[in-house]
Amino acid sequence: IAAVTTTKYFMPRLLGPFCSQYPGIDIALEVVNRDRLLERLARNQDDLYVMGVPPEGLDIEREPFMENPLVVLGPASHPLARRKRIPFAALANEPVIVRARGSGTRLTVERAFQERNVPLQIRMELGSNEAIKQAVAGGLGLALLSQRTLSLDPGQTDVAILKVEGFPIMRSWYVVRPRDKQPSVVANAFLDFLRTHV
Ligand code: PGA
Repeated sequence: IAAVTTTKYFMPRLLGPFCSQYPGIDIALEVVNRDRLLERLARNQDDLYVMGVPPEGLDIEREPFMENPLVVLGPASHPLARRKRIPFAALANEPVIVRARGSGTRLTVERAFQERNVPLQIRMELGSNEAIKQAVAGGLGLALLSQRTLSLDPGQTDVAILKVEGFPIMRSWYVVRPRDKQPSVVANAFLDFLRTHV
């Protein structure tokens, strides 16, 4: 399985119960950013691909299996953290910390600002969700991240989810495979597991 970086917050945990159910199966999970994952898909390197933004124009099967809300994070001490119903346009005045190009999260953030015609003020580019959360906590700016990135750290009190109108943006996690590739017995078992357990 190849999966984008943000799935590290849940994919390894899903594999636990799957492997207990099928103890004879060995799994390799490759965690890469979206661009690397699309290269692997083009080279037909894996049985299954897990991502938040499936590519357009490729002959693939895509199946949503889990919600993937995108939230706006800010330092808990930020004035916006106390406001309700923040208009999206208010983000035009805020420095934003983004993932590096090639990330599905980065793509989604750029699209969200473009669709709403609001300028995106990039303060800094960072290579990981964890580094971004720490930068937000340190007061460097706001960030738009998958809510999943908060799941390992529910006690984190120095960042807050801002109540921006239209958020969370509801998206899905997808399992993707080439349409012309017959899934292996093992891949089918994992697909069934995702459909029934998640
Ligand atoms: P990323 O992908 O981990 O490369 O940002 C996340 C997504 O596709 O939503």
